[in-house]
Amino acid sequence: MAHRWKNDLTRADATPYAAFMNRRQLMGGALGLGLIGAAGAARAAEELVPNSWEDITQYNNYYEFGTRKDDPARNAHTLTTSPWTVKIDGLVDNPGDYSMAQILDAMTIEERIYRFRCVEAWSMVIPWNGFELADLLTMAGVQDGAKYVAFETALRPDEMPGVSYPVLDWPYVEGLRLDEAMHPLTMMATGIYGKTIPNQNGAPMRLVVPWKYGFKSIKSIVRITLTEDEPPTSWNKANAREYGFYSNVNPEVDHPRWSQASERLVGGGLFARRQPTLMFNGYADEVASLYEGMDLSKFI
Ligand code: MTE
Repeated sequence: MAHRWKNDLTRADATPYAAFMNRRQLMGGALGLGLIGAAGAARAAEELVPNSWEDITQYNNYYEFGTRKDDPARNAHTLTTSPWTVKIDGLVDNPGDYSMAQILDAMTIEERIYRFRCVEAWSMVIPWNGFELADLLTMAGVQDGAKYVAFETALRPDEMPGVSYPVLDWPYVEGLRLDEAMHPLTMMATGIYGKTIPNQNGAPMRLVVPWKYGFKSIKSIVRITLTEDEPPTSWNKANAREYGFYSNVNPEVDHPRWSQASERLVGGGLFARRQPTLMFNGYADEVASLYEGMDLSKFI
């Protein structure tokens, strides 16, 4: 990517929305070229106009802070995000408790503009700042027997009003196959629009897997474990008929209760009309090969 952000993002590093859009125009159609591939580039340059800061930070799913879309923005200020420690364990050479400062020191923060598609059939385009998960896993030293990566969100009843309700089996947990986790599109986000990521979006560090439904992108991570077996995932535990381990965006496989063929781009105005959902959320060229031989109509 052409642009690199400083590691220590603060509010002072804010890019006003207008300035950000202007810079995007200056960069022209080159936006995200390296990631999207030539075939999709023209379309991507046209489509990937990021949502506003307000869209991204006021309309959230973070059930630890409530189940309404505006609950996280209202309630998540209670989460203490500094100091923050991430335990990396399991099948790694260098297990341990890593402070966020240690992690940020070792990683290069860059900007990635990704489509984000929730299983509820709304979508946004989000300019994330962060680093490739592969870099963090490489730092931890992945051992031969590792086949999956398990993630866990903080569980702090004193700071998270939503966890007193048994909506999910807390803490929120997620997982990826190791090759999915090591894929260059998979990132850990620590910022949005060049600002420190707000609590409601998963501060201080959350996963972003742009070709999967949004619930795979687990927030406020405190533990990463390399495992041999497929780890349990929160939504699968809650309702295995509706939510699978893979959860790749697929317009041809409907949710049992609604169609996945189209989506509503959050933001209203010109973009209020539903738009077709793309296979692997538009990242098929990059990731379809990961699922060769699997019957895409069968697995969710
Ligand atoms: N992570 C945790 N810990 N708790 C949650 O409730 N919601 C998921 C995912 N990660 C969730 C979570 C869902 S359903 C979605 S769509 C995305 O976060 C929403 O991310 P956003 O609020 O930043 O758009």
